[in-house]
Amino acid sequence: MSQLLVRPGSPAGPVTLTAPGDKSISHRALILGALAEGDTLIHGLLQAEDCRRTAEALTEMGAEMSAWGTDPFRVYGVGRQGLMTPCCGLDLGNSGTGLRLLMGVIAGQNFSAQLTGDGSLRRRPMDRVAEPLMRMGALVEGGGPRYTPPVKVHGARLQAIHYTSPVASAQVKSAILLAGLNAPGETVVTEPARSRDHTERMLRAFGAQIEVEDLTVRLQGEPTLHGQEVIIPSDFSSAAFFLVAGCLLPSLDLSLKNVLLNPTRAGLLEALGQMGAEIEVSDQREVNAEPVGTLRPHSRCLHSAEIGGEIIPRLIDEVPLLALAATQASGQTVIRDAAELRVKESDRLATTAAALSAMGAEIETTPDGLVVSGPTPLHAAQIDSYGDHRIAMMAGVAGLLASGETLVSGAECIATSFPEFAHTLAQLGAEVEVR
Ligand code: S3P
Repeated sequence: MSQLLVRPGSPAGPVTLTAPGDKSISHRALILGALAEGDTLIHGLLQAEDCRRTAEALTEMGAEMSAWGTDPFRVYGVGRQGLMTPCCGLDLGNSGTGLRLLMGVIAGQNFSAQLTGDGSLRRRPMDRVAEPLMRMGALVEGGGPRYTPPVKVHGARLQAIHYTSPVASAQVKSAILLAGLNAPGETVVTEPARSRDHTERMLRAFGAQIEVEDLTVRLQGEPTLHGQEVIIPSDFSSAAFFLVAGCLLPSLDLSLKNVLLNPTRAGLLEALGQMGAEIEVSDQREVNAEPVGTLRPHSRCLHSAEIGGEIIPRLIDEVPLLALAATQASGQTVIRDAAELRVKESDRLATTAAALSAMGAEIETTPDGLVVSGPTPLHAAQIDSYGDHRIAMMAGVAGLLASGETLVSGAECIATSFPEFAHTLAQLGAEVEVR
């Protein structure tokens, strides 16, 4: 087990950072690249553990691609029904996105495959994907009523469905759309609130006919997907660690370049704005059908806010950071409608509260959220990552605000999404060590 040590410090001057490639878009580029006719060339693919697992699983199913670590990264498409039976089970490690999206892909192939992952992934519910895939005609086996991995997906000739999802989850929506590629007719998914829409954007770019109206997506089945050149912007969720540091640390003059600003992802900007933060957005443009830009946070006195409803799916991975910001805001911040966090890489409501209260925060969990009272000075502490990359990195950023040396144990999980995190954190002037 590795440990991340953080001691606060100040940078010598202005800092400009570029966070690594977006994880969600990277998974999709690998998958659509494999299902396309012809080659896909990916610039800025996130070369982190989660995406590596997806690439390896696709390779096991016969898609060839560049050696891991190559940039640009080439995927040689096999066509949307051209994958082959893998010789053994597919191990997606910690990646819920990899596992759920590949369940959708395999459902429409003419073979069966078993998918599993690490201890955390084996506790996560897959019934939300298994159920619609079975309605489309695939057979899915999994553990207990929640279909925990290992799950076995038996591919079949699928039929298109109209599915109303009970959860606002891009993984569920994407799994159904990927299955729908091999179902004749129109596959329709309606979600209760808008979740990230990278699958829709990328499917359109690869040549699929797809329409979005309010909360409903319609895909025409059996398209020919054409290999593309894909440029991946910086992950908003990775940039968010530094964005929040920039909002909280007066000594930091920070610019974050080339950040994905897709509105289905960037809800944290609105939530921080509600709390009085000032974040300059500049150089806005579109890259590969995704909006990107530069973010420049300015530290301001924050105040509490009530965060809930439709914004939650648009900041779902940033709730631990929002809670950290709330510890420095005056008043009581209430985050609600976020029960989904209980089934992430860890129970993120519980682990966020545990990490921040160990550092002196006043924070409590509710069944679907968090209540944070502030402002509270944070003190250094020994924090467990609970095997969750976003908790480990949030604790690392909290360490920038805390007096003394913060030690995050189980820090190896950071490699799932942001292998250069410690190095990047050190660029903010902090003393950072991994051991
Ligand atoms: C993701 C969707 C979200 C998010 C996850 C990545 C994706 O999960 O939390 O980190 O790439 O589709 P849900 O779909 O379960 O909300």
